[in-house]
Amino acid sequence: MKILVIHGPNLNMLGKREKAIYGEKTLHEINALLEKEGQTLNVELVTFQSNHEGELIDFIQKQADSAHGIIINPGALTHYGFSLLDALADSKLPVIEVHLSNIYRREEWRTSSVIAPVAKGQISGLGWRGYIAALRALADELKGEASP
Ligand code: DQA
Repeated sequence: MKILVIHGPNLNMLGKREKAIYGEKTLHEINALLEKEGQTLNVELVTFQSNHEGELIDFIQKQADSAHGIIINPGALTHYGFSLLDALADSKLPVIEVHLSNIYRREEWRTSSVIAPVAKGQISGLGWRGYIAALRALADELKGEASP
């Protein structure tokens, strides 16, 4: 089973960027924790980060046919990335949207997600642990082990 883990704009700066909001871990550290969990769950992960919406779309289009699900933190594209939304919808894969911070406790403009309508679920505010929770939930679901 293959799950795509996609990180949007500015998430390459984790560990330096607004640590009080996004935590201390770098993206590399978060990906390594996900990789470890993926091995435990026997799931192959393909991770990708870009600061460019088109590159995120290219990645989804290239990978979707061979993948089973997507975990995505779209960064600020969450709030206006309609092309990204279309690419996710077109992938027809189950999508879990993850945010390190709780977007509902922040500025008004962050409280709406254009991605949410295509997401199976959303995890917001649990920091890096949100990615691990998303991976466990998606892997469970895909393996048909989850209760309804
Ligand atoms: C974020 C929240 C977004 O509003 C912001 O633009 C980000 C990160 C989060 O993980 O909390 O880049 O998606």
